[in-house]
Amino acid sequence: MPKPGTRILITLSAMFAGVVAARADVQEGRRIAERWCAGCHVVSPQQTTGTEAPPFSELAYRFDFRSRPLGEILAGPHPAMPAMQLGRDDAANLTAYIRSLKK
Ligand code: HEC
Repeated sequence: MPKPGTRILITLSAMFAGVVAARADVQEGRRIAERWCAGCHVVSPQQTTGTEAPPFSELAYRFDFRSRPLGEILAGPHPAMPAMQLGRDDAANLTAYIRSLKK
Protein backbone atom coordinates (compact mmCIF):
# COMPACT_ATOMS: atom_id res chain seq x y z
CA MET A 1 0.00 0.00 0.00
CA PRO A 2 1.82 3.17 -1.13
CA LYS A 3 1.79 6.24 1.11
CA PRO A 4 -0.99 8.73 0.20
CA GLY A 5 1.56 11.21 -1.18
CA THR A 6 2.93 8.57 -3.52
CA ARG A 7 -0.53 7.75 -4.73
CA ILE A 8 -1.24 11.36 -5.65
CA LEU A 9 2.03 11.48 -7.55
CA ILE A 10 1.14 8.33 -9.47
CA THR A 11 -2.28 9.74 -10.32
CA LEU A 12 -0.79 13.03 -11.48
CA SER A 13 1.79 11.38 -13.71
CA ALA A 14 -0.88 9.14 -15.21
CA MET A 15 -2.96 12.23 -15.99
CA PHE A 16 0.04 13.97 -17.48
CA ALA A 17 0.84 10.99 -19.67
CA GLY A 18 -2.76 11.04 -20.88
CA VAL A 19 -2.52 14.70 -21.85
CA VAL A 20 0.73 14.15 -23.72
CA ALA A 21 -0.67 11.18 -25.59
CA ALA A 22 -3.83 13.07 -26.52
CA ARG A 23 -1.93 15.92 -28.13
CA ALA A 24 -0.50 14.38 -31.26
CA ASP A 25 2.65 16.06 -32.44
CA VAL A 26 2.68 16.96 -36.13
CA GLN A 27 6.41 17.76 -36.19
CA GLU A 28 7.26 14.47 -34.53
CA GLY A 29 4.98 12.74 -37.06
CA ARG A 30 6.91 14.37 -39.86
CA ARG A 31 10.22 13.21 -38.39
CA ILE A 32 8.92 9.63 -38.20
CA ALA A 33 7.61 9.85 -41.77
CA GLU A 34 10.94 11.14 -43.07
CA ARG A 35 12.82 8.44 -41.25
CA TRP A 36 10.58 5.43 -41.89
CA CYS A 37 8.31 6.12 -44.84
CA ALA A 38 10.21 8.48 -47.16
CA GLY A 39 12.18 5.62 -48.71
CA CYS A 40 9.08 4.75 -50.72
CA HIS A 41 6.48 7.48 -50.17
CA VAL A 42 6.78 11.15 -50.98
CA VAL A 43 6.01 12.38 -47.48
CA SER A 44 6.36 16.15 -47.81
CA PRO A 45 6.12 18.88 -50.47
CA GLN A 46 9.90 19.27 -50.19
CA GLN A 47 10.60 15.67 -51.16
CA THR A 48 11.17 15.30 -54.89
CA THR A 49 11.70 11.57 -55.45
CA GLY A 50 9.61 8.58 -54.50
CA THR A 51 8.45 5.21 -55.77
CA GLU A 52 5.08 3.91 -56.89
CA ALA A 53 3.90 4.27 -53.30
CA PRO A 54 1.12 6.87 -53.02
CA PRO A 55 2.32 10.27 -51.75
CA PHE A 56 1.20 11.13 -48.23
CA SER A 57 -0.59 14.22 -49.55
CA GLU A 58 -2.84 11.78 -51.44
CA LEU A 59 -3.27 9.42 -48.50
CA ALA A 60 -4.49 12.42 -46.52
CA TYR A 61 -7.57 12.44 -48.75
CA ARG A 62 -7.95 8.70 -49.21
CA PHE A 63 -8.25 7.91 -45.50
CA ASP A 64 -9.92 9.65 -42.61
CA PHE A 65 -8.08 7.35 -40.13
CA ARG A 66 -11.17 7.29 -37.93
CA SER A 67 -12.91 4.22 -39.26
CA ARG A 68 -9.50 2.67 -39.98
CA PRO A 69 -6.64 3.88 -37.80
CA LEU A 70 -3.20 4.02 -39.37
CA GLY A 71 -1.89 1.24 -37.15
CA GLU A 72 -4.59 -1.03 -38.55
CA ILE A 73 -3.89 -0.05 -42.15
CA LEU A 74 -0.22 -0.83 -41.71
CA ALA A 75 -1.00 -4.12 -40.00
CA GLY A 76 -2.82 -5.21 -43.15
CA PRO A 77 -1.17 -5.99 -46.47
CA HIS A 78 1.49 -3.36 -47.03
CA PRO A 79 4.80 -3.76 -48.87
CA ALA A 80 7.64 -4.87 -46.67
CA MET A 81 8.59 -2.04 -44.36
CA PRO A 82 11.90 -1.73 -42.63
CA ALA A 83 11.68 -3.41 -39.26
CA MET A 84 9.94 -0.92 -37.04
CA GLN A 85 7.58 -0.96 -34.16
CA LEU A 86 5.01 1.74 -34.59
CA GLY A 87 3.95 2.68 -31.09
CA ARG A 88 0.56 4.18 -30.36
CA ASP A 89 2.06 7.65 -30.02
CA ASP A 90 4.01 7.21 -33.26
CA ALA A 91 0.85 6.22 -35.10
CA ALA A 92 -1.03 9.19 -33.62
CA ASN A 93 1.75 11.61 -34.53
CA LEU A 94 2.03 10.19 -38.05
CA THR A 95 -1.72 10.44 -38.47
CA ALA A 96 -1.67 14.08 -37.33
CA TYR A 97 1.12 14.79 -39.78
CA ILE A 98 -0.59 13.11 -42.74
CA ARG A 99 -3.82 14.98 -41.91
CA SER A 100 -1.89 18.25 -41.85
CA LEU A 101 -1.03 17.73 -45.53
CA LYS A 102 -4.63 18.38 -46.52
CA LYS A 103 -4.87 21.79 -48.08
C1 HEC B 1 9.22 -0.46 -48.75
C2 HEC B 1 8.47 0.68 -49.26
C3 HEC B 1 7.48 1.33 -48.32
C4 HEC B 1 7.71 1.86 -47.06
C5 HEC B 1 9.03 1.94 -46.30
C6 HEC B 1 6.44 2.39 -46.59
N1 HEC B 1 5.46 2.17 -47.54
FE1 HEC B 1 3.49 2.62 -47.36
N2 HEC B 1 3.12 1.81 -49.20
C7 HEC B 1 4.09 1.36 -50.08
C8 HEC B 1 3.46 0.99 -51.35
C9 HEC B 1 4.17 0.44 -52.58
C10 HEC B 1 2.07 1.23 -51.19
C11 HEC B 1 0.94 0.98 -52.21
C12 HEC B 1 0.46 -0.42 -51.94
C13 HEC B 1 -0.80 -0.72 -52.64
O1 HEC B 1 -1.39 0.16 -53.26
O2 HEC B 1 -1.22 -1.88 -52.50
C14 HEC B 1 1.91 1.74 -49.83
C15 HEC B 1 0.67 2.09 -49.28
C16 HEC B 1 0.51 2.74 -48.07
C17 HEC B 1 -0.76 3.17 -47.53
C18 HEC B 1 -2.12 2.96 -48.19
C19 HEC B 1 -2.57 1.57 -47.90
C20 HEC B 1 -3.87 1.25 -48.57
O3 HEC B 1 -4.58 0.36 -48.06
O4 HEC B 1 -4.21 1.88 -49.59
C21 HEC B 1 -0.50 3.78 -46.35
C22 HEC B 1 -1.53 4.41 -45.39
C23 HEC B 1 0.92 3.74 -46.12
N3 HEC B 1 1.49 3.09 -47.20
C24 HEC B 1 1.56 4.27 -45.04
C25 HEC B 1 2.93 4.14 -44.80
C26 HEC B 1 3.59 4.69 -43.62
C27 HEC B 1 2.90 5.51 -42.52
C28 HEC B 1 4.89 4.33 -43.71
C29 HEC B 1 6.01 4.63 -42.73
C30 HEC B 1 5.75 4.21 -41.34
C31 HEC B 1 5.06 3.56 -44.94
N4 HEC B 1 3.84 3.48 -45.57
C32 HEC B 1 6.25 3.01 -45.37
C33 HEC B 1 5.45 1.23 -49.81
C34 HEC B 1 6.06 1.56 -48.61
